[in-house]
Formats: sequence, structure tokens, C-alpha cells
Amino acid sequence: MERKHYTQQINITDALMARINELLSHYPSDKRKSALLPILHEVQDAHDNWLSIELQDKVAEIIGIKPVEVYEVVTFYTMFNQRPIGKYMFEFCQTSPCCLNGVENLMDYTCNKLGVKVGEPTADGMFEVRGVECLGACGYAPMMQLGDFYQEHLTEEKIDQLIADCRDNKITLHDK
Ligand code: FES
Repeated sequence: MERKHYTQQINITDALMARINELLSHYPSDKRKSALLPILHEVQDAHDNWLSIELQDKVAEIIGIKPVEVYEVVTFYTMFNQRPIGKYMFEFCQTSPCCLNGVENLMDYTCNKLGVKVGEPTADGMFEVRGVECLGACGYAPMMQLGDFYQEHLTEEKIDQLIADCRDNKITLHDK
């Protein structure tokens, strides 16, 4: 099956480059690849939360490693996005404790409310729903991650409120 190619405006600002250089400075000069994960997070945050092939190539060039070394990391971890995603990504934990506490019904509820399937952004690009593995907050099941923050003990009412708050621009996605 042919993969769709998404284009992206690459913008490595002076501030982003300074942050990348700071991250690289934490490692010996012959171990620059060790900074790849934090650099990818910074670069993704600065590019609407996704990483095109061209942007991954740019990261490889900056670090001085092969592009494939970036591709293999980006394709392995679900926190890196390879296509444009909804601005508000509802990442529901789908591991047993959250399932036993009704997370799948809440995912269905959210998808129906937003008029989407799992893995499809809404037409306005505002929302997307995704299932992920255990987020390490099993005692607060059912839960999900929204940006850098956890939303715990979810109910349909909490989902309604979160969606309303996202639409009203009241949700902070990043903790910095
Ligand atoms: S099972 Fe959901 S956070 Fe661990």
C-alpha cells in the first residue's frame, strides 16, 4: 500500500537550535546520538506535534547521524507522530486496569461525540483519539494523557468538560 506523503514547513529557529545545542552539550562529542530522544521531543513540540521525513532528515543532519537512525526511533515510539495529528490528542490507556474500569466505553463515547474513528483527526484538526499502552497511572483508571498531563478517573461528564475546555482554549498542553 502506498503511504501518503505529508509536507511540513521546517522551522529550526535560533531558540530551538540553542536548545538542541544545550541538549547535545550533556553528552560526550562522540555520543551525540544519545541526545536524539530529547531533541526529537523539542523539535516535534516546535512543529505542531509531528515529524515529517524531511524534518527527521534535518534532525539527523544536525546531530551528525544517519537518517535511518532517526527513522527507527520515530517509528518505534508512539509519542512521535509521523503525520499531522489533531491539536488535542486524547490518548486513552488501553491496558487491563483501565479496560476493566471502562476505558473502551469512554473511547467510544469520545469518538461518537467528536464524529471520528480512533486514529483520525476531526475535520477541523482540533481533536484526535488514540489508544496507548499503560501510562503508569493504573490507580487512577480509567485515564488518558492530553498533552503533557494526565486526566484521571475519567467519566463521560469529564470528557464533555475536557472537550468544551479545549474548544474554549482553556487547556494547557505543555508543562513548560
Ligand atoms: S492500565 Fe491504565 S494507566 Fe496503567
